[in-house]
Amino acid sequence: MARELNEVGVVGLGTMGAGITEVLARAGLSVTAVEVTDEALARGRGHLEQSTDRAVARGKLDPAERDAIFERVRFSTSLEDLSSAELVIEAIPERMELKAEVFAKLDKICPPDTILATNTSSLSVTELSVVTGRPSKVIGMHFFNPAPVMKLVEVVRTVVTEPSVVEDVEALADRLGKVDVTIGDKAGFIANALLFGYLNHAVSMYENRYASREDIDAAMRLGCGLPMGPLALMDLIGIDTAYEILDTMYKQSRNRLHAPSPVIKQMMTAGLLGRKVGRGFYTYAEAGSAEVV
Ligand code: 3HC
Repeated sequence: MARELNEVGVVGLGTMGAGITEVLARAGLSVTAVEVTDEALARGRGHLEQSTDRAVARGKLDPAERDAIFERVRFSTSLEDLSSAELVIEAIPERMELKAEVFAKLDKICPPDTILATNTSSLSVTELSVVTGRPSKVIGMHFFNPAPVMKLVEVVRTVVTEPSVVEDVEALADRLGKVDVTIGDKAGFIANALLFGYLNHAVSMYENRYASREDIDAAMRLGCGLPMGPLALMDLIGIDTAYEILDTMYKQSRNRLHAPSPVIKQMMTAGLLGRKVGRGFYTYAEAGSAEVV
């Protein structure tokens, strides 16, 4: 019988962390959401407000329920506030040294039976697990962007993850209204391993002036029935995140499909990070907006 997890922490309130916080709070869980600075915390809270306000404006969420969601979330700048969490989901940038530091701290702060999960999209969950004194309680819980909308959660078990921990996290995914798939610890898991070769190829088509960005995207939307073309999707994912994912997968597999197209690094250096900053392959009405100008 799976353990019911009701008190959850989220570390990192970027696009993914804020989306995950929303999903948890909407399902009635009590969430402590932690960021490093007051500024980052305010930005994360802003993501949550924007998303829930939009749902209210569309008549999809009752204003009273929106307020109840905020009552279930405690915003904090201190990891110490996670000392009674039953599960912590880490969603900070895709850099092993940063994640390892957070996991080592969480290991000291949280009770021994707290499950420590990472939302990493490509880094090794096993490598993270061994910086803690509880590798059997470390697991991957990979959500998709936008987290409140996308139904999938990839549950990543390492060779030492306890089967009961896998069961607890699968049961939680179910309670969140998600569908889970459970896989081993290999860069990119299932979805990104298949998706990113395609996205990278689309970028190189654009970079080589083979076709315009609009035509590449229209071909995949209208010809293949995808909800979004690959360059618009790169902007949604974030150019920096996409680069880190491709780079990690390339280093692990040496498959040239995943060698990041040069323009991705150039865009990253120039700060064209996609929708979240208002400019990527496309220019948006404002940072975070989906409206292309
Ligand atoms: N937060 C919350 N809700 C959102 C949202 C967001 N950021 N963006 C859209 N929505 C909701 C809308 O409110 C709307 O809800 P409703 O139907 O209840 O009114 C619904 O989603 C549809 O939105 P829109 O009508 O505005 O727009 P679309 O129909 O074009 O859908 C989309 C937008 C859901 C983003 C769709 O284009 C899509 O599915 N795109 C593909 C996304 C994808 O492939 N994601 C995976 C990326 S890979 C990844 O995340 C892995 C990681 O490791 C990088």
